[in-house]
Amino acid sequence: MSSSPDLPITLWRDLRAATLAGDAAWGAIDNACLVVQGDRLAWVGPLPELPPEWASRVNDEVHVDNAWVTPGLVDCHTHLVYGGTRAHEHELRLQGVSYEQIARAGGGIRSTVAATRSLDEEALCQAAARRLRQLQADGVTTVEVKSGYGLSLDDERRMLRVARRLGREGMDVRSTYLALHAVPPEFDGRPGDARDGYTEAACQWLDTLHAEGLVDAVDAFCERIGFTPGQVTRLFQHAEGLGLPVKLHAEQLSDQGGAALAAEFGALSADHLEWLSEAGIQAMAQAGTVAVLLPGAYLTLKDTHLPPVAALRAAGVPMAVATDHNPGSSPALSLTLMMNLACTLFGLTPEEALRGCTHVAAKALGLHDRGRLQAGLRADFSVWDVEHPRELSYWLGHRPLLERVHAGRADGRLAA
Ligand code: NIG
Ligand code: FE
Repeated sequence: MSSSPDLPITLWRDLRAATLAGDAAWGAIDNACLVVQGDRLAWVGPLPELPPEWASRVNDEVHVDNAWVTPGLVDCHTHLVYGGTRAHEHELRLQGVSYEQIARAGGGIRSTVAATRSLDEEALCQAAARRLRQLQADGVTTVEVKSGYGLSLDDERRMLRVARRLGREGMDVRSTYLALHAVPPEFDGRPGDARDGYTEAACQWLDTLHAEGLVDAVDAFCERIGFTPGQVTRLFQHAEGLGLPVKLHAEQLSDQGGAALAAEFGALSADHLEWLSEAGIQAMAQAGTVAVLLPGAYLTLKDTHLPPVAALRAAGVPMAVATDHNPGSSPALSLTLMMNLACTLFGLTPEEALRGCTHVAAKALGLHDRGRLQAGLRADFSVWDVEHPRELSYWLGHRPLLERVHAGRADGRLAA
């Protein structure tokens, strides 16, 4: 096995590993150890089988007292950067006003756009960093962050710059350009469908922001209150021309054929999917597009139309689970709580939920170097005070995290 002679080696031992690799349930290994060299896992397996060439070179040992270790969690769909809250809309919905009605009355995403535009980069960064720490306390080591509350070149840029800055806070951050989230007020009253002109502008901004190195993927909100499949196609063709991968908010409130459209473009993922059709499922299965399930939005909007989990499973479509953290439809800051909801509301098994927040979520971001405990992959892992990993989908609001290791570096919770 290749190794880098200069990098110090840490042996994490006396643990039980849910590697999510191999054929065993949970990829479980008893009396396991992890050899960490730099930011990589160099060896994973039962302690008694640790090869002497590794054992002899260990610089440091961490004993974790038979705790369970999983891959670091991956939150593959968030809108973490924004100003304000929308608790007043929550209250309105409790009185019977729908998410769609609020959006059509000029609230919803547009009200967060106004609040976001009013904050400078520093203030946005501080607010987002506080939320990021909540996710870290839940064992998350990689997070995706979308723009989409700026809706002008400068305001989208500011959001994406904040996303890049968050990537220096002990977390891997992938940034997604979501200008096609809502139409900003500047485009009101334009002749014809104002969304067409806005889509053109959003394509031009993408050129600039991509050239500035701020964009890892491109997303859009394909919905009656969002953008049409035709407008999404225009954006996706543009993204394709730039070599950027795409993903889509699809079939959240109605069936627009968005998932099939995303699959046509080889999308990394289609997300939400409450109204996904059989044709959409088949298209996703063929394209290898990940289904990202967002039970926080389903719960918050008091949705009753379930995503077709059994049919997705039967078709072999990989299912990820994410917080969709945003101030409107999912003010959720716990990915393990989402695992619970994915099981309780959507019918995932606890093992599917953990896979959905690790290697499947990584796939939804186009990342293949994480999400399992396996030699050669990144040393991103979380140590849990649980009797079994199924417990991660059990608690409602308890965070049994003992330690989080990102790129080989422990937060220091165990030592504290
Ligand atoms: O994923 N549905 C569109 N976008 C977000 C909600 C955005 C908002 O309401 O601010 C979502 O649910
Ligand atoms: Fe979303």
